[in-house]
Amino acid sequence: MTTQVLVLNGPNLGRLGIREPDVYGSATLEDLAETCRATGRQLNLRVDVRQTDDEAEMIRWVHEAADARLPVVLNPAAFTHYSYALRDALAMRTAPLIEVHLSNPAARESFRHTSVVAGVADGTVAGFGLLSYQLALQAIATLAAAQDPGQQENTAPAPQTDQPPDQPPAPQQTASQGPP
Ligand code: DQA
Repeated sequence: MTTQVLVLNGPNLGRLGIREPDVYGSATLEDLAETCRATGRQLNLRVDVRQTDDEAEMIRWVHEAADARLPVVLNPAAFTHYSYALRDALAMRTAPLIEVHLSNPAARESFRHTSVVAGVADGTVAGFGLLSYQLALQAIATLAAAQDPGQQENTAPAPQTDQPPDQPPAPQQTASQGPP
């Protein structure tokens, strides 16, 4: 069975190619869409790429994904940094969600260092241009296969660990604040 995935893009990403090419590269939104569809074909994912400058439309698409249990790759663009409405919509998700960015917001202006979306996503891929989307689709394929083991042969093998297969898993590390 092919998994359907929504790849949703927020404001100003329709201007890719002419928008600050030194930051976002020279690929257009159509190039991005074709790259995502081609990656999807390799991973047995049916990829539907959309872009909007409208917060309400983006939220409607997120509701649609939640109702249909569709995984989402989301570049929220500037919504990343302030849209609590988008975050609240994403919190209702019923399938995997990966946040992506073409640039690395952590290495840019301080207002970009906050993502109100990251806390409700499975993970974030940022800083790799179109490769960010390809890596996110790989993550979606792996997460979808974990939920539906019949899909497993379509995804990359699980990452190798140092543990020999017959060893019990290492005990969980506990986060620590440092010495008391
Ligand atoms: C972006 C980073 C955001 O800070 C910015 O507002 C965007 C694009 C990226 O893909 O690098 O519009 O999400």
